Amino acid sequence: MKLLVANGPNLNMTGTREPETYGSETLAAINSQLKARFPEVAFEFFQTNGEGDLIDKIHGVDKEGFDGVVLNAGALTHYSYSLRDAISSIKTPVIEVHMSNVFAREEFRRTSVISEVCRGTITGFGKISYFAAVFALSEKAGK
Ligand code: DQA
Repeated sequence: MKLLVANGPNLNMTGTREPETYGSETLAAINSQLKARFPEVAFEFFQTNGEGDLIDKIHGVDKEGFDGVVLNAGALTHYSYSLRDAISSIKTPVIEVHMSNVFAREEFRRTSVISEVCRGTITGFGKISYFAAVFALSEKAGK
């Protein structure tokens, strides 16, 4: 099974950015742990700080043959209707993930404009949010 793990704005700073909230491991370290934990999955890892770049990547996933997308859209989660429309435009299931518990933080983080068009949401488990999303997608595929 082929999965895209996509991270949006500021997630490249994981490991040094607010470590009390996002942990002290880098995104690269988390990605290699995912590969080690799920050796049967063909992963592609993508990170961008650009809304348009993330939308372009989402547009391609059906054609590129991905079985699912694990998406941490960062703050775009809370306001990007363009990203929401991009997710709506594809058939591949997308799981929304957040490392922090967005419901236990500032008010603006309690709104997600993408949840409604995602297969499900996992929030609050640090790096394990990514692992749980991969697990959910791989179970669905009945591997
Ligand atoms: C985040 C939560 C968002 O509110 C925030 O803007 C991020 C990271 C998380 O992983 O907890 O950049 O998506």
